[in-house]
Amino acid sequence: MKHEFRNFHIWRGLLLFVGLCLSLFFSFCNTQETIVSSDKDSLYFWNLHDTVDYVGMQECQTCHYEIHQTFVHTGMGQSFDRASPEKSKGKFPIMHLPWKERRGTPIYDPKTGFHYQAFWRNDSLFIRQYESDAQQRNLVTFMREEYIPYIIGSGQHTNSHFWTDGSYVYQAPLTFYTQKGIWDLPPGYEEQNIGFNRKIDMECMSCHNAMPKVAKSAKNFFEKVPLGIDCERCHGPGELHVNLKKQGILVDTSKYADRSIVNPKRLPYRLQVDICQRCHLQGNNVLKEGKHFDDFRPGMALKDVFEIYMPKYENEDYFVMAGHADRFQKSACFIGSNKGDAEAYNPNLNFTCINCHNPHVSVKATNNERFNNTCMGCHQAESKRSALHDCKLPKAKRIHKAGCVGCHMPGSSAEDIPHVMVHDHKIQRPKATGDIESHKGKLLGLYAVNNPAPDAKDEIRAYLSYFEKFDPNPLYLQKAGTLLHKHPDAYTVAHSRGLFKGQF
Ligand code: HEC
Ligand code: HEC
Ligand code: HEC
Ligand code: HEC
Ligand code: HEC
Ligand code: HEC
Ligand code: HEC
Repeated sequence: MKHEFRNFHIWRGLLLFVGLCLSLFFSFCNTQETIVSSDKDSLYFWNLHDTVDYVGMQECQTCHYEIHQTFVHTGMGQSFDRASPEKSKGKFPIMHLPWKERRGTPIYDPKTGFHYQAFWRNDSLFIRQYESDAQQRNLVTFMREEYIPYIIGSGQHTNSHFWTDGSYVYQAPLTFYTQKGIWDLPPGYEEQNIGFNRKIDMECMSCHNAMPKVAKSAKNFFEKVPLGIDCERCHGPGELHVNLKKQGILVDTSKYADRSIVNPKRLPYRLQVDICQRCHLQGNNVLKEGKHFDDFRPGMALKDVFEIYMPKYENEDYFVMAGHADRFQKSACFIGSNKGDAEAYNPNLNFTCINCHNPHVSVKATNNERFNNTCMGCHQAESKRSALHDCKLPKAKRIHKAGCVGCHMPGSSAEDIPHVMVHDHKIQRPKATGDIESHKGKLLGLYAVNNPAPDAKDEIRAYLSYFEKFDPNPLYLQKAGTLLHKHPDAYTVAHSRGLFKGQF
């Protein structure tokens, strides 16, 4: 049986191979190493085609062993896994005491009156929610316990917990915040504690995992739950590449692109940043009509699948935890180094995430020298890449143990997640206080980070869904209303939502 299965794969591989022989031949005549934006519609990379499947990281490991070895230690490599004592970063109570006396973890939510506790029963993790009598502290009046099969989060910042009811996936109401070493309610629960009922959908899961599969019928019914972000989330599906390499069909990648797999460094800067901001930007994701979250593949323009809307405040320094991509693109360094749309990526000119990050290696294992050398590559006398040739701060004062990034990309607590520290990616002249101001100022509206000129219809949907999902501020409805007056053809979008009853 197993053999038949394997044969099937070989035949399928051969067929794909024959089909691609011709174009492969032509690619050998192509001396171009990087692609330009105009290639994007012609499926420059063959694995953008939706017939090419995902194969999983174990396949890649067989030939790219060293990359795999370092990648599994990164936050992305550890972003999602089965719950186990090895995986968990949580601190747990001493188990030999009767459970009511294990006062190590329970946290109390005064709003609901519930206590929460995480504990192991052998190697299985459980989260318990209970109510105890206010007068007689130990009398438990209500209790619910769920087995926790999955931990989400490498623990660089937090571990959150999922439980399942068959194939339906939900979040459990307890999170461990590693930087402070404490348990607390999950982010968002401080406003509305919905207990064990937060449904985990494709949007959430697909930012933290290899490509999951969700049933069409229910948004939190998963047919496939992989175990962590893998290679193919940045390189695209690998089936074709693996088949060709196994047959010994190689490309001299020092001269040519291997068109069977995406190497992000060959993409124009926008498409390259799109790979990272597919996940590193947590705003209001508005899918294009008829599109799904699993439609995006590296090498595509993200705006063809979804747009990411963020609120715009008077004070630009308001930023969210998963906002790296937005903040970075606001830097004068980014804007000054990346101009125009159609240019091919030039590592000696452009400035993207991968000038500083090798995604196969964790930031924890990256010396600050790499980051600081990147700054120096543009900000020193000999460089033509910036007009600013030196730091304005007098040399004697220019001392920080982390170097340039210590002052220009300071660590700070994010606005939306409690108890965590991240680094602001808007590179700028440090504020006098040295700290990011946290007041937002006046709300101005929404903007699509990955599309400077969004379609009015999509913009209206963004305002309406922002109002529904994130913030019931009437300004969002007013903005949608103004757009509707200008674009009456978009009326059906708003009308179908029933949000404008009696407003116009
Ligand atoms: C059977 C061996 C084999 C397997 C399995 C394999 N690769 Fe490769 N890969 C190679 C070889 C050899 C090269 C360099 C020569 C070439 O591209 O033809 C390469 C090149 C690459 C490149 C660089 C392409 C370029 O144009 O710069 C990327 C990216 C890549 N592989 C990713 C992956 C990923 C992701 C997987 C798993 C889905 C994978 N590989 C599985 C053998 C393999
Ligand atoms: C648009 C993509 C996106 C969505 C949607 C999203 N996240 Fe995240 N999340 C991220 C990114 C990126 C980070 C890492 C930010 C960083 O390291 O600064 C993160 C961080 C986290 C962490 C902390 C990981 C660690 O230890 O560093 C947890 C836990 C988490 N998210 C859970 C969730 C849950 C649960 C949902 C859905 C209910 C969700 N996220 C939705 C992108 C997303
Ligand atoms: C978060 C995105 C991301 C993930 C996940 C990722 N890569 Fe890469 N990979 C890149 C980028 C970006 C480059 C280009 C790096 C450069 O040249 O600056 C790259 C380059 C490569 C190359 C080209 C040769 C080289 O050494 O640079 C290979 C091969 C490769 N990756 C294999 C893998 C394998 C195997 C995995 C999984 C174990 C993986 N990648 C996971 C982003 C990623
Ligand atoms: C599929 C979604 C996804 C994509 C695509 C993605 N990331 Fe991530 N990345 C995450 C999440 C989620 C985390 C936090 C994981 C955790 O710690 O649990 C993360 C963590 C990181 C970290 C910090 C963790 C560490 O150990 O270094 C860096 C740096 C990073 N990503 C860079 C990139 C870059 C650069 C790209 C684009 C080439 C990229 N990522 C593409 C989702 C993604
Ligand atoms: C790829 C080149 C490049 C890199 C790398 C780079 N910058 Fe810049 N930087 C620029 C350009 C271009 C400008 C805009 C001014 C100009 O046109 O010369 C700029 C502007 C600045 C400014 C002025 C900001 C403002 O708002 O006016 C500061 C401060 C700065 N950079 C610091 C840094 C630091 C610190 C690093 C490393 C973390 C860094 N840059 C990395 C190219 C770069
Ligand atoms: C101790 C904190 C600190 C460190 C370390 C530091 N800077 Fe600065 N930098 C500043 C401050 C503060 C300013 C703004 C000074 C002003 O506007 O008068 C500044 C300004 C700049 C500017 C804008 C210069 C201009 O002409 O307007 C650049 C570029 C810059 N720094 C780059 C760097 C680089 C590159 C490094 C690392 C080699 C670095 N900085 C290290 C604090 C620091
Ligand atoms: C100028 C260099 C530079 C560039 C460009 C850059 N980063 Fe970073 N990044 C850093 C530094 C420095 C840290 C903090 C490392 C540490 O923990 O000491 C960091 C940390 C991170 C982290 C871990 C969480 C945190 O904030 O500490 C994530 C995630 C991340 N970067 C994502 C990205 C993404 C996505 C991009 C592109 C949109 C990007 N970075 C571009 C320098 C850079």
